[in-house]
Amino acid sequence: MAPSTSSAITLNINGEKFTLTVDHRTTLLDALRERLDLTGTKKGCDQGQCGACTVLLDGRRAVSCLQLAVAAEGREITTIEGVAEGERLHPVQQAFLDLDGFQCGYCTPGQICSAVAVIQEHAAGWPSAVTDDVRPEAGPPPLTDDEIRERMSGNLCRCGAYVSIVQAVARAAASEEQDKGAAA
Ligand code: FES
Ligand code: FES
Repeated sequence: MAPSTSSAITLNINGEKFTLTVDHRTTLLDALRERLDLTGTKKGCDQGQCGACTVLLDGRRAVSCLQLAVAAEGREITTIEGVAEGERLHPVQQAFLDLDGFQCGYCTPGQICSAVAVIQEHAAGWPSAVTDDVRPEAGPPPLTDDEIRERMSGNLCRCGAYVSIVQAVARAAASEEQDKGAAA
């Protein structure tokens, strides 16, 4: 008997469970968009080059066009539809709106998902390729424009909205820092 080429899987997306049968070759991106109608995640290059399809897997950035849906089973998947907290926009979403961090908007869901993780990675002290002092005891480097550009460099914007995107990420990072300070 020929081996089966499809499997029933359960995906945990934005806190909800979705059970579906997929061909083993189905990417997470296609499962989200074509099977589950979660079309906020965009397909740009379909080759891992543009970042339009970025989602969070267990809180870390991943390009969903290079991820098989079957391999995402058991992971906590967050798409742009799950970034806000109920009616309250995520600070990154609010900053993109306030500072016009987009033009056509096609790259924006991926940019926002990436930025959410960038801010967390930076706060956790992760260095980037442009960080001068990478010693753990140095702590997080200042989140300069160069740091933001480098950390967001996997997300392309064909409209060239980069200046506003960098400003939006900086503003969201600052507002999250402020919130943390107020809660401490
Ligand atoms: S569509 Fe996935 S990186 Fe471009
Ligand atoms: S806003 Fe159009 S591609 Fe980025």
